[in-house]
Amino acid sequence: MSLPTSPSVVIVTGVSRGVGLAIVQELVAVGCFVLGVARTAASQIPAELRSLPADRFVYVEGDCSNPELQQQIVARVVATWGRLDALVLNAAIIDPLERIANVDLQLWRKVFDVNFFGVISQIQIALPHLRQTNGRIIVLSSRGAEEAHAGVIPYCSSKVAVTMLVQGLAMEEDLVCVAVKPGHVDTEMATKLREDGALVMNPTQHSVFKQMKKEGTILRPEAPGKAIARLALHATKELSGLCISWNDPRASPEQ
Ligand SMILES: NC(=O)c1ccc[n+]([C@@H]2O[C@H](COP(=O)([O-])OP(=O)(O)OC[C@H]3O[C@@H](n4cnc5c(N)ncnc54)[C@H](OP(=O)(O)O)[C@@H]3O)[C@@H](O)[C@H]2O)c1
Repeated sequence: MSLPTSPSVVIVTGVSRGVGLAIVQELVAVGCFVLGVARTAASQIPAELRSLPADRFVYVEGDCSNPELQQQIVARVVATWGRLDALVLNAAIIDPLERIANVDLQLWRKVFDVNFFGVISQIQIALPHLRQTNGRIIVLSSRGAEEAHAGVIPYCSSKVAVTMLVQGLAMEEDLVCVAVKPGHVDTEMATKLREDGALVMNPTQHSVFKQMKKEGTILRPEAPGKAIARLALHATKELSGLCISWNDPRASPEQ
């Protein structure tokens, strides 16, 4: 993998907890300049974010699917650090957990607004800057894009869509665009599946998630967070358009 010659400037969405928080911590630890966005009030973000150096990390509070905010964060990054090297589109929502027959379509559309259309518009806004730096776009996908999970189809279908978006973008743009499956990670999203999914999910699939938590085989966010941060900095053309697992050997930079 090629190494960047100067500290990279990265935008990460969904940084207030979970995988996004871990991605930011790794990026700042290796010397990047990072702007992170989430809806949580700035006064409520975790201490791990508040303790990051102010010249390295900027937190912006807001809905990352809002095109006005998307314009603002790209403009702010370029005004502050002069460039944009990578976009890590991590934010997503999993609700509604509901069977297809009963899903409120307004809620299904909301999932697509955040997990799919919000991703497209952020990419459109950032593209002119990413073209200048031969930058990278990393989008969080899911095993749910490859295997249906009963009761979670609004989310799974949004991840199918976003995975195809990455594949198409890699064909249309001379950039490195990669979709990543982070594994089953111990975050609020995973807790929601275990706690609220029982009534709508397939019992076998639901019990796998419960078992992973019980046995401690569920991932902590740090490992996929680190791998995704490295992809944002080092992923090469051979990965562009692919949807890879966080622990795919091709995701590890040469040490
Ligand atoms: N956990 C897993 O097992 C798993 C498995 C496969 C894929 N993934 C994917 O990995 C990514 C991270 O998931 P996670 O498990 O870390 O989820 P999480 O714990 O629910 O965190 C999601 C993050 O996204 C933010 N977010 C959600 N909607 C937003 C919006 N409209 N605007 C701005 N920020 C928003 C949340 O912050 P606020 O609430 O503060 O806005 C939070 O920081 C997601 O794309 C998810 O689909 C996770």
